[in-house]
Amino acid sequence: MELLKQRILSEGSVVNDQVLKVDALLNHQVDPELIMEMGREFARRFREERITRVITVESSGISVAFATALELGVPMVFARRKKSVTTDSDAYCERVPSFTKGIVTDIMVSKKFLNADDRVLFVDDIIANGDAAQGLVRIIRTAGAHLAGMGVVLEKTFQAGGAAIREQGIRLETLVKISSLSDQTIRFED
Ligand code: G4P
Ligand code: NA
Ligand code: NA
Repeated sequence: MELLKQRILSEGSVVNDQVLKVDALLNHQVDPELIMEMGREFARRFREERITRVITVESSGISVAFATALELGVPMVFARRKKSVTTDSDAYCERVPSFTKGIVTDIMVSKKFLNADDRVLFVDDIIANGDAAQGLVRIIRTAGAHLAGMGVVLEKTFQAGGAAIREQGIRLETLVKISSLSDQTIRFED
């Protein structure tokens, strides 16, 4: 998405070699028109998969997942983060480390909103090391649902998360690939 690259260049900022600040676009403020454009693009790429639910993790994946679900005409479910471990027989739970915050959290999805009949599209804002993503993949597998694929807005290809997802045979579509953030410079993969 050329438009998205332009917006990242004009509104994003390099925090360090690993982290790109995009809170004007994805993580704090969102531009509804731009988010809808992303949703249309993911819907276009996965339309033939007969998706029954779009799933994401709160919070920053929600806007794009919503836009995608609206375009596909299906519900969107967001995994919730829990601060304390609560064993809940009515929910799927997984423990995940958080790359940016340096803490461990538990994510959970109620068994009411994910089941073995589902054909799931997992949508997220950023893939870095992929720890959060792997946690949600485990939840989808535990539920016995079919994971049709993953759509992520921004992939940092110099980190291992995207490659690890693809190695598992999961179809991962990303809108923008960033190959490096070194020297305070955003470099896109061509
Ligand atoms: P992930 O690749 O599956 O997202 O897992 P990882 O453990 O690598 O990243 C954990 C969190 O860090 C995610 O947000 C992810 O979006 C965020 N993150 C990773 N790299 C960057 C980056 O370069 N810039 C920014 N702004 N965020 C980054 P989260 O913990 O799920 O929080 P939330 O944003 O959804 O609330
Ligand atoms: Na995030
Ligand atoms: Na996210």
